[in-house]
Amino acid sequence: MSKIKDAFNSSIKIPFFSPSITKDDKKAVLYALASTLLTDGPKLREFEKNFAKFTGAKFAIGVSNATSALHLSLKALGIGRGDEVIVPDMTFVATANAVVHSNATPVFADVEMDTMNISVDSIKDKITSKTRAVLPVHFAGRACNIDEITKLAKKNAIPLIEDCAHAIGTRYHEKHVGNFGIVGCFSFYPTKNITTIEGGMIITNSRDVAKYVMSARNHGLSKNLMERYNHGMPWDYDMKESGYNYRLDEIRSSLGINQLKRIKILNVLRKNAFEYYNAKLADIPDIITPSLPNKWEEHAYHLYILRIKENDRVSRDELFRKLLNFGIRTSVHYKPLHEFSAFKKLKHCDLDNSTQLYSEIISLPFYPDITKKQQDYVISCIRRIMSNSL
Ligand SMILES: Cc1ncc(COP(=O)(O)O)c(C=O)c1O
Repeated sequence: MSKIKDAFNSSIKIPFFSPSITKDDKKAVLYALASTLLTDGPKLREFEKNFAKFTGAKFAIGVSNATSALHLSLKALGIGRGDEVIVPDMTFVATANAVVHSNATPVFADVEMDTMNISVDSIKDKITSKTRAVLPVHFAGRACNIDEITKLAKKNAIPLIEDCAHAIGTRYHEKHVGNFGIVGCFSFYPTKNITTIEGGMIITNSRDVAKYVMSARNHGLSKNLMERYNHGMPWDYDMKESGYNYRLDEIRSSLGINQLKRIKILNVLRKNAFEYYNAKLADIPDIITPSLPNKWEEHAYHLYILRIKENDRVSRDELFRKLLNFGIRTSVHYKPLHEFSAFKKLKHCDLDNSTQLYSEIISLPFYPDITKKQQDYVISCIRRIMSNSL
């Protein structure tokens, strides 16, 4: 049925995800490979310029991935030992790991049942005298309640860092997410709305943050590679504070430039596939389809997540196993942070929604190139399983 092969098992008919890589993308990568400057060069600058234009931010700084983007953002705000950072309980571990890398403590906030985005009330409950940042995630590509979160952060004089890993193309009242707080962090991991394989981007409207990040991603040096070789003596640079090697190379940047040119069409294909699933799955018993965005939101449709209501016939895990038997790969986004061994030692409470959601959610195969025929197959299998005719 599918031209796309699953990377792990050849009997899989419908993979969970497949990145959209064109002939032009491959050409761009080969072209970049022929250059003598393979990292920290003109392709990175071009990708950054285009990403800043796309998001409307003053500065865009390419980095090795979104985890390093989050780490550098926390460092730019001077967050460290003894500080607390509020993150949603329902997110990928990287959101909290970046806080741990900064020697600070992640504090888990609960999420909304409907959008799975961080709950404003829960943030309020988790603010203490040690809170130094709030780090919401625009979950599955849907903007969180960013107006209320911005107000709350301002009222408490707490900086806001936005995890926009799922949210390339997500806008709220026409403003691209990542521009509401001090910094926004994006991921270009293969499953994301555009990919550079590994890769990330920081956007900010603060010159000071941009200046720090540009140097800190490059070991903390006072000059980048082009500045060193184009002006004066290449070894004539200083380092005021030790930084990191979090650079984005020319090959990945070239792929990113090409992918970004197609973001609008990629997101429209995602929207169509999302709406198709929603229309065809809505009447199946014990299923809750994801809600649609408000009219002031532009959704990036990063993931398609169903909820299976508690029932005495088919559990979420059973649905997962039966779909796999039909050659359909699904997943769960995510196991809540408080469930991980590494985070169990942190004190946490009042995470009822993320705990409940964890037992109910299942992410369906979802990518720009998914065909209606593939979706129909997924839908018909779910219908049969949920109506217990299997
Ligand atoms: C919400 C969220 N934040 C951060 C990350 C980390 O992204 P990266 O793999 O680019 O470091 C991910 C990756 O999946 C993510 O889903």
